Amino acid sequence: MSTVKVAALIVVGAMLITQGGEPLDSTGNGDPLGTETLYPAPAQALLCIIAGVFILSVGWLYRLLLCPLELLRAPEDVGYIAEDGRSRAQAANEVRRRRKTGELPPVYPNGWYRVLDSRMLERGEVKNVSALGEQWAVFRGEDGKAYVLDAYCPHLGANLAVGGRVVGSCVECPFHGWQFRGNDGKCVKIPYAIKVPEFAKVRCWPSCEVNKQILVWYHCDGEAPQWTVPEQEEITKGEWIYRGRTEHFISAHIEEIPENAADIAHLDHLHTPGIVSGADLRYTNSKTWEFVRHHWKVHWEPEPEPNKHCSQMLMKHSLTVFGRHWPLLDVHVVARQVGPGVVFLLFNHSFLGRGVILQCVTPVEPLLQYVSHTIFYQSTIPPLVPKFILRAECIQFERDVMIWNNKKYISKPLLVTEDSAIHKHRRWFSQFYSENSPLLQYHRDSLDF
Ligand code: FES
Ligand SMILES: [Fe+2]
Repeated sequence: MSTVKVAALIVVGAMLITQGGEPLDSTGNGDPLGTETLYPAPAQALLCIIAGVFILSVGWLYRLLLCPLELLRAPEDVGYIAEDGRSRAQAANEVRRRRKTGELPPVYPNGWYRVLDSRMLERGEVKNVSALGEQWAVFRGEDGKAYVLDAYCPHLGANLAVGGRVVGSCVECPFHGWQFRGNDGKCVKIPYAIKVPEFAKVRCWPSCEVNKQILVWYHCDGEAPQWTVPEQEEITKGEWIYRGRTEHFISAHIEEIPENAADIAHLDHLHTPGIVSGADLRYTNSKTWEFVRHHWKVHWEPEPEPNKHCSQMLMKHSLTVFGRHWPLLDVHVVARQVGPGVVFLLFNHSFLGRGVILQCVTPVEPLLQYVSHTIFYQSTIPPLVPKFILRAECIQFERDVMIWNNKKYISKPLLVTEDSAIHKHRRWFSQFYSENSPLLQYHRDSLDF
């Protein structure tokens, strides 16, 4: 029940109590409407208001101090300018329709991608996930293991995840009841047939469950996974716990998002204004907030073999207020990118503690990326700290979103010497494309929100 509803109930309760009507006696006498009250009317009203405000404040404080932060943005929520009476969705659609895409690299790089958080999939539950041009039935068997199969049943094409049910470690099709095994996709039962044909199977996708997330391996040629997603042991052991997540949809090519880490120059321009000035780039440089500035020192580097699918951005952040440096807020972050779809942003601070933000980028469509930031933090640190870190990171990230949503991909950018890490990043990222990686095909009808 929402805090508002609870507050409303309490207020009504308080009104009834303060009215304190006398019950009817056997002859029907009494004061059922409470016209003779314990307190005069203005005092009653005041009491009700105080009770309501008190309950609301307690609810608000509870959420602020103890609950995880959940900030889920719709595709049109961030980074579009709605003017001339248009809605944000209209503005977003227009930008996407008119946009020049440029000469794009393939749209689905090979690698691991998050499909769901572990807690989003209960034992015995099946969910439909649509990403990378595929439809998946992601389900958790009664054995507790998560499986990813093609969603469409090979019999007559029903979607296994829409009305299908989990039976043991199999999923049963809602249409005629065929059952498919999670670990290899083989059909193990056709309720009305004597024999199950050997070739009756659905495609099974390599998947893993690590750091409380379910990930799927995508390779355009169906090749087996070439690396694993590293486990953050503190999460598995429960030393770092879930403190919140944000969710964004970004209208851009996937490569533009990690490229941000190698684009050193944009930090001083886009991310210097204090987070108090918000994410809307029209106002971030306003004079009002000029006294708060972030400063960044960044270095980006690919990792050597055997981790050439990884890269690292080392980032030193400091803060000045009215030109005065606040050393206690100096933060060092290591952003380790693992393949095209997963980044570990590791925080280690003398008194703010340790933790990680997992940034996961999963292409939903060729030019629509789903991005989640999930924070796990030392359980001994008050939740307010990681929630603040996630919120601050989100504001900075949304500034990038405004750029990404409106920009064009430039295959041959006009770079200066100081931009050299961008070239380096493009070379590094190209390892995730192979000959058959899918290219953008134009079909505009699916681009509307
Ligand atoms: S369509 Fe799935 S069992 Fe027939
Ligand atoms: Fe950025």
